[in-house]
Amino acid sequence: RQRILSGMQPSAGSLHLGNYLGALVHWVRLQETHDAVFFIPDLHAITVPQDPAELMQRTRTTAAQYIAAGVDPDRATLFVQSQVPEHAQLAWVLNCLTGFGEASRMTQFKDKASKQGTDSASVGLFTYPILQAADILLYQPDGVPVGEDQRQHVELSRDLAQRFNTRFGETFVVPQPFIQKETAKIYDLQNPTAKMSKSAPSPAGLVNLLDDPKVTTKRIKSAVTDAGTEIRFDREEKPGISNLLAIFSSLSGRSIAELEDEYAGRMYGHLKVDLADVVAETLTPIRNRAEELLSDPAELDRLLAKGAAKARELAAPTLAEVYARVGFLPAA
Ligand code: TYM
Repeated sequence: RQRILSGMQPSAGSLHLGNYLGALVHWVRLQETHDAVFFIPDLHAITVPQDPAELMQRTRTTAAQYIAAGVDPDRATLFVQSQVPEHAQLAWVLNCLTGFGEASRMTQFKDKASKQGTDSASVGLFTYPILQAADILLYQPDGVPVGEDQRQHVELSRDLAQRFNTRFGETFVVPQPFIQKETAKIYDLQNPTAKMSKSAPSPAGLVNLLDDPKVTTKRIKSAVTDAGTEIRFDREEKPGISNLLAIFSSLSGRSIAELEDEYAGRMYGHLKVDLADVVAETLTPIRNRAEELLSDPAELDRLLAKGAAKARELAAPTLAEVYARVGFLPAA
């Protein structure tokens, strides 16, 4: 069996529809046919300041949403990054193989650092993609299911795998990004040319998995739409309607062409009302199940600790091989 690996930052309480459609849905599908490794990258979360109590809660909330959306902890390996020290250990080795200029060219770093002011951005934010490469390479996965915004980071992990293999001998599998074209980028409802993101200036364009359905319905109904009246998929001319159609299509399993036919001659408002229903039908059970899981945090913590033990069994041999290859003296 081929292996896949992926993770989502616990930096907001709730995941949003971009995370769900861009990644989580595909994880759940792929775990049926692949050996799957899913984790919560809490080490990545602290690259920007976090409130400790909140971080702990958000890590649990993120795990609960994975499971509520269908990640099966018996089938997949599900864990929290900080509980598997091999991530930080491999990251150090990879830091030493990455050029300063190469790291400086990572677009997410440039975006985030320019928002914070480059001087106050942490060094952790700078090396963030290298820690991500360590997350990936430790488990020797064949594929990394993510949205479009993670493509450059997966590319870096490929470059580092190849560089290590060339310099020290065949060690790492070189992973492929698994990016599903139709859902690779879900856009903000208020600003349909920007990706849906938890760091958007206003939450009005976000559909959060854990929000009250009333809030979600209101946000969908107030989504920015385009000039004209025609319901047609056209990213250039009609980014707002196209985003709604893409979301509708992926949630309902119906093709965009089918939806265009159904809504021919009807108004934007009709599409929005029906989409709000489809979203509520999808998210309500996820929200309920997540709440149920969060009502017993001790059980959730136990499950994650078990996952971490499983993960360490997979990660330790890779790290041991890396340490030996770079010339570290054996510890035992
Ligand atoms: P994060 O937490 O920003 O996003 C989690 C996943 O959701 C996808 N995504 C989207 N997809 C479509 N449309 C959107 N608007 C949208 N917004 C987010 C992301 O592409 C991602 O797949 N650096 C990673 C976390 C990470 C990781 C890893 C991922 C750490 N280590 C190892 C894979 C492998 C991140 O911040 O994703």
